[in-house]
Amino acid sequence: MIELKENSPQQTVNKLPNRTREPRVLQTIWVVLRPMDYLETMQERYGDIFFAEFAGFPSSVIISNPQAIQEIFTADSKLFESGSGNQVMQPLLGSNSLVLLDGERHLKQRKLLMPPFHGERMRAYGQLICEIAEQVMSQLEVGQIFTARQYTQEISLTVILRAVFGLKEGERYQQIRKTLTAMLDTFNYPLSAIFLFFKALQHDLGPLSPWENFVRQRELLDKLLYQEIHERRSQPESLGEDILSLLLSPRDEAGQPMTDIELRDELMTMLFAGHETTATALAWALYWIHYLPEVREKLLQELNSIDIANTEPTEIARLPYLNAVCSEALRMYPVVFFTFPRILQAPMQLMGYELPKGMILSPCIYLTHHRPDIYPQPKQFRPERFLERQFSPYEYLPFGGGNRRCLGLAFAMFEMKLVLATVLSDYSLELAERRPLLPVRRGITFAPPGGVPLVVKGRN
Ligand code: HEM
Repeated sequence: MIELKENSPQQTVNKLPNRTREPRVLQTIWVVLRPMDYLETMQERYGDIFFAEFAGFPSSVIISNPQAIQEIFTADSKLFESGSGNQVMQPLLGSNSLVLLDGERHLKQRKLLMPPFHGERMRAYGQLICEIAEQVMSQLEVGQIFTARQYTQEISLTVILRAVFGLKEGERYQQIRKTLTAMLDTFNYPLSAIFLFFKALQHDLGPLSPWENFVRQRELLDKLLYQEIHERRSQPESLGEDILSLLLSPRDEAGQPMTDIELRDELMTMLFAGHETTATALAWALYWIHYLPEVREKLLQELNSIDIANTEPTEIARLPYLNAVCSEALRMYPVVFFTFPRILQAPMQLMGYELPKGMILSPCIYLTHHRPDIYPQPKQFRPERFLERQFSPYEYLPFGGGNRRCLGLAFAMFEMKLVLATVLSDYSLELAERRPLLPVRRGITFAPPGGVPLVVKGRN
């Protein structure tokens, strides 16, 4: 983390964004326990670019002004570092993960990881995504109450393991999914992931401590991933079109293949970033669809206008209302509230402010998505807004932007649409409890509390 020393804003710079005046400790507790309330109150008090200070966390400029976000996303990528600001994810993803890299190494890895998540290769997974959704949902019986998030997580995890990693059914496949699920369950309770944020908690505090439990699961998962890597390396004929195969073949300019540790870290990044987020987004979408009968009806009308079973997945993904529902779900409660931090490597002029080197800029997805000037009645879930106008990438940014824009954007949207279309056309569902839900922290994402209990009313 770059520290503000002689460049500290109070000392050298005249024109800085409004600085929050509340005590740091109060702000820290507030943002951890009631993040939306904190962000909205601060935006109201200090405007759409303000400097927030926390105890134990780095202070940063929180930005929900689209013009400022545009300037950040389109600036020379050398002006910022993000990887060094993402160290909180190091225990989970490892130091070689794309999200922890910066500069040339980041650019090179991104190029390597990009192809399977786009274009033809991604579209080839369409049929498989629908089949996986069908298969996971077929475990349910009429009358059964189930937690949406648990099922969407099973779907998205299977999709990543099968379609992206090319893992086949078998003992190791089952062990990987079991261990990963157990590891991610550490994050089921808002405060159990707190050890990620405080190094002091990353010690052996006994076999029942969250950190110990997390480390045990991680060691087991590493062992399984290394076994898979070694097996594939030793059997080049087994290499296919999946991402692990692709990563095993390339060499850098010096002719060096990726090391085992590098491979392991990228696999963890894909596993973690690729299914946890999509599962939460799907659970939100299912919640809204069943919370608002008019949304469900309109969506079913659109889905019934085609024969889902005999329609190309790419065509399903083009349905306008389905797209609007997914987009609105990601607007209303974005899975992550902030993009990665952008740490200034040189002074920057932004909207008339003079920001010093070392300052951390945090574009806030949640606040930008709730601006009434862009999204009238922002607290209302209204997919139609996405049919009425187009939003710029600086007004609508659930996947961030610029040189760090989510690698899995197209893949995640494709998966969301296909899973929703499959589930809704096969099953009649209802909310088990009809109540308004507000996001709760789940690791670094924000998920629906209780995971959205649904009941199966019928099968079509
Ligand atoms: C609904 C699902 C998802 C959401 C909301 C989401 C959101 C995000 C956001 C906000 C960022 C930071 C972007 C920035 O700072 O500008 C990000 C980065 C990233 N996402 Fe996603 N993501 C999702 C699904 C996926 C999937 C399916 C993958 C595929 C494996 C993935 C892989 C990544 C990676 C590797 C990065 C780091 C990119 C970099 O550092 O260059 N994500 N994502």
